Amino acid sequence: MEKFEWTEDMNIGIEVIDSQHRRIVDYINDLSDAISKSEVEEVFDVMERLRDYTFDHFVFEEQLMEQAGYPLLQSHQMVHRRFEDKVRNMYDELTGGKDPFSVARRARTSLMVWLIQHIRHEDEDYVSTVKKIVSKEQTWISGALKRIFGASEKTSG
Ligand SMILES: [Fe+2]
Repeated sequence: MEKFEWTEDMNIGIEVIDSQHRRIVDYINDLSDAISKSEVEEVFDVMERLRDYTFDHFVFEEQLMEQAGYPLLQSHQMVHRRFEDKVRNMYDELTGGKDPFSVARRARTSLMVWLIQHIRHEDEDYVSTVKKIVSKEQTWISGALKRIFGASEKTSG
């Protein structure tokens, strides 16, 4: 299964966010590996981690936008909530007994498409507002990362 390659144009220029997006891409590639190897348990495991990490990323991104006073926060939140519903539905299909590999293949495709579109549109839009606070708010960012992702997440921004 073809690897989802991170390309330079997917960077928004805010390292703390770019590294989270790259991590999501890594998880998508882990999912591809699990599908290629026909590992059912690994499919479940990666789908769960992918869902949890993506949802945590949304929480972090929303708190960062709020901290920066981004005016379109609400509509960005709505886009996140809609995508969460979609991910939740796919996860429910998986646990509900549907063919795990076909669900995983669909999840992989829709995540790839959604992520690229979302980065280029909604995420690009907050960059100038959020960039203004990033260097001043390193302590707040470290705290938010620890609070949301736990101690494992790297705190460089
Ligand atoms: Fe976003």
